[in-house]
Amino acid sequence: MNKERSRGISVSPLLFEALIMRFSWTDIRLQTAGCSDMHREIAGGVYFVGVDDHRTQLFENLWALPHGVSYNSYLIVDDKIALVDAVKESWADEWLENIREIVDPSRIDYIILNHMELDHTGALPHIARIARNATLIYTPRASPMQKAFFDVSLKEKTVKDLDEISLGNKTLKFVHAQFLHWPETMMTYVVEDQVLFSCDAFGSYGALNGKIFDDESDMQKIEKESKRYLSSIITSYLMFVRRGVEKVRKLGIAIKIVAPSHGPVYRNDPMWIISRYYEWSSPQFEKHVAIVYGTMYGYTHSLAVTLKDELVAKGIEVRMHDVSQSEMSNIVTDTIRASVIALGTPTYDAYPFPRMQAFVNEMEGKRFPRRPLALFGTFGWGGGGIEKLQKQLANMGFEILEPVTRVHARPSQQQKHDLVRLTDAIARKISQD
Ligand code: FEO
Repeated sequence: MNKERSRGISVSPLLFEALIMRFSWTDIRLQTAGCSDMHREIAGGVYFVGVDDHRTQLFENLWALPHGVSYNSYLIVDDKIALVDAVKESWADEWLENIREIVDPSRIDYIILNHMELDHTGALPHIARIARNATLIYTPRASPMQKAFFDVSLKEKTVKDLDEISLGNKTLKFVHAQFLHWPETMMTYVVEDQVLFSCDAFGSYGALNGKIFDDESDMQKIEKESKRYLSSIITSYLMFVRRGVEKVRKLGIAIKIVAPSHGPVYRNDPMWIISRYYEWSSPQFEKHVAIVYGTMYGYTHSLAVTLKDELVAKGIEVRMHDVSQSEMSNIVTDTIRASVIALGTPTYDAYPFPRMQAFVNEMEGKRFPRRPLALFGTFGWGGGGIEKLQKQLANMGFEILEPVTRVHARPSQQQKHDLVRLTDAIARKISQD
């Protein structure tokens, strides 16, 4: 019986070997598709050791992450070993594993912190307990932040703008990059390999899923997600983006690879992301109108649609968002560069519709550059929503186009006519740009 069964599944030694080989290869590929891809070499002796976050729903607990996000960290192995940036604390174990696959983390000599925000430093105490002889490297402004957040018991060395440290065969140059995206930020440049570790600058939302390089990525998706990332995270500091890019240009350093702390590593076309960031941080507005409105029972929606139809009929590009339906980062992305923003609100408890108020507060907090604004809205009895919004926006320095359209309940023909006049005012502003 055993013999029969044995005969039934018997395989030749050659086939057996082939199956074993196939199994082993599949196993290796499975590993490669998982964590092992996350420690790939990006230049000789320079490794990616970052992690993907598929769990967090909202970045900063504010901005949607439909495709996840990566926290990139890099290891430079030379006579001395340097670690560039850490990761968010929940991913410390996976990150340490990535490092261990390359070196014993206790051998790390330098931990370079380009930025103190916790998505890049949360796991610092974990590595600090292992790499006990390492020296922290950061800007003078980062030092008190590190002490306030962690106060790890490691030596520290603060670096001035353009200071250099030798690792043996490789030289690290530190380029201060204030407000990218906090006041203490810097970039680290590997002189011999021409690799720029830019931290938040040139970053993107979206997990990498093992595809760490631009030439392995869906670049249409990267373009959308990096623009949304810049718009939601760095909008308050757009002029610092341009200053940062201009500073790097003036240094005259060649850049072969841009390795940010979120999103892909740009080895195929590093200038692509630098140029996109420069373009998206331009003080020049784009020739489109963003209509952002709230609505409860559809009347403000109908005003928004009339406005949109009139603008489109005039050949003007419109991007439109209902604040109760669109995610905030998409609204910010479409409004921050619009030549004219049109805001519509119902009155709610004598105030603007709460989600519209939240958006206008976001405009204020993100220091939206001034430009013409159009205002329209509805009220059922007492009013007050549009008036309060108008006052706040005027205090923020925005020019409010006339006529401001206030509708009691159902829009009348006269009020629709006012909206047409408003589109004329918007069109004149767009043509003046
Ligand atoms: Fe990715 Fe400002 O932290």
